[in-house]
Amino acid sequence: MKEIVLGLLGLGNIGGGVWDLIREFGDETAKRTGVKLRVKKALVLDKKIHGGKEVPDEVLTTDKNDILEDPEIQIVCEFLGGEQPAASMMLRALENGKSVVTANKMALSLHFDELRAMSQKTGAGLYYEASVGGAIPIINAIQSPLIANHLEQIMGIVNGTTNYILTRMAAEGAEYETVLKDAQRLGLAEPDPTADVEGYDAAYKLSILGSIGFHTRVRVENVYREGITKVNSEDIAFGREMGYVLKLLAIGKDNGESIEARVHPVFLPADHPLARVDGSLNAIYLYGHSFKDMMLEGRGAGDAPTASAIVGDIIQAAQNAVHPMPVMRENPLPVADDWYSKYFIRMKAKDEPGVLAEVAGLLAKEKISVSAMMQKDAGPDGKATLIFITHSAPEKAMQRAMNSLNPEITKVENVIRVEE
Ligand SMILES: NC(=O)c1ccc[n+]([C@@H]2O[C@H](COP(=O)([O-])OP(=O)(O)OC[C@H]3O[C@@H](n4cnc5c(N)ncnc54)[C@H](OP(=O)(O)O)[C@@H]3O)[C@@H](O)[C@H]2O)c1
Repeated sequence: MKEIVLGLLGLGNIGGGVWDLIREFGDETAKRTGVKLRVKKALVLDKKIHGGKEVPDEVLTTDKNDILEDPEIQIVCEFLGGEQPAASMMLRALENGKSVVTANKMALSLHFDELRAMSQKTGAGLYYEASVGGAIPIINAIQSPLIANHLEQIMGIVNGTTNYILTRMAAEGAEYETVLKDAQRLGLAEPDPTADVEGYDAAYKLSILGSIGFHTRVRVENVYREGITKVNSEDIAFGREMGYVLKLLAIGKDNGESIEARVHPVFLPADHPLARVDGSLNAIYLYGHSFKDMMLEGRGAGDAPTASAIVGDIIQAAQNAVHPMPVMRENPLPVADDWYSKYFIRMKAKDEPGVLAEVAGLLAKEKISVSAMMQKDAGPDGKATLIFITHSAPEKAMQRAMNSLNPEITKVENVIRVEE
C-alpha cells in the first residue's frame, strides 16, 4: 500500500469536508486504489477556530512553511479561497515539486498561466476538478475521455445560488429581492451576494472551462458578464407563455474564428436539457464534433459533494505519473466581442397607432427580423406591454437598435438573449 502525505491549506467548509471524507472513507478508498492518504498538517488562522472538526492538535499549524517546505508532504490541497495568498502558496508548492489540488476558481482563473508554467517546469501536477461544478467531473471529462473531440459548445449552469433564485422566482412568481433574502436566510446565498448574482463566480468558472475546452486562454476579463439582478417575475412569466425557461448560463462557443465567452441570463426552450435543471443543482451541456451532445448534472457546491471531487483529484495526483495538462493551440483564437443570438425584448409602449411599425422599422434597419410577437393590453398608465422574439442577430446590432428607440414612445424594460 502506497502512503501519500498531504498538507491542507485551510480547514473551513471545504477543507473540513475533505478532512471528514478522508477520515470516514479513507480506508475504503485505500482498498480500492492502493493509496492510503495521511493528512500531516492543516493550515489555519487560529488553532482554536477551525470549523469544529476533531483535528488532532499536532496536525494544526498556523505556519504555511510547515506544509510548503516540508519534503515529506507530497500533495498540497488548497482551500483558502480568494486570490491571495492562495495563488502564491500554490505556486510555491509546485515550485517545491508538490502536486497541488485546488477548489479555488478565482486564484486558478487569474493565475492559470503561471501555475501551468510552474507545473510544467517542475513536473508537479495541478488538479482542479472541484473548481467548476463541485462534484461534477467536468474537468476530467473534457481533458480525458472527451479529448478526441473538437468542442464546439460548453453551456453551463455553474452557479447554484442563482439557479436556486431563478427556480423559485419561476415557481412562485416571486421577485428577485424577496427570494434573495430567503436564500440568504437559508445559507444558500452569501451575506454579500455580489460574486454570485452579478455573475463573477460563473465568469471565473467559464474562464477555466473555456481555456481547457477550447485550448485557447480565455481570460476572465474577456468574459462578457451580466448577472440576474435586473430580471423580474414579469420576464419569467412572459417567457414561459412563449415556451421558455430562464437560466443564468455560462456560454462558451468555438465559432471557428473566435471564442465566445459570456455569462448572462438566457431564455432556453422548455425542452432543452438545461431548462429542467432546478434549484441549486449545476449542469454542463457540451457539444463535441464526435460525441455530439451530452449533459453532466449534479451538486455544484457544499462540503461533501465538493470533497468528493477533491479526494478524486488527490487519488489521481497520487497515481498519475503523467498529469493532465491542457495544451494550448499554436494559433489561439481571440475572444469575441460580438456574437449572434436571438433576443427576447420586453417594452412598454404608448397604446397608439404607429408604435409597432416604428419598433419593427428600427429593428429592420439593423437587419433584425422578428419571429414572434405578443401584446398585452394597456394598463391604467395607458402603456401596453410588447414582447418580441427576434431571429438570430449580432449583439452589437441589437444594442444599436435598442439605443435608437424613442424613449418618449417606447421604454425597453429588458432584453434577454435566447439560446436554442
Ligand atoms: N463552499 C463551497 O460549496 C465550494 C464549492 C466549490 C469550491 N469552493 C471553493 O473552495 C474554497 C474554500 O471555500 P470554503 O467554502 O471552504 O471557504 P471558507 O469556509 O471560508 O474556508 C476558508 C478557510 O481558510 C481559512 N483561511 C483563509 N486565509 C487563510 C490564511 N492565510 N491562512 C490560514 N487559513 C486561512 C479561513 O479562515 P477564517 O474562517 O478564520 O477566515 C477559512 O477557515 C474557495 O476557493 C471556494 O471557491 C467552495
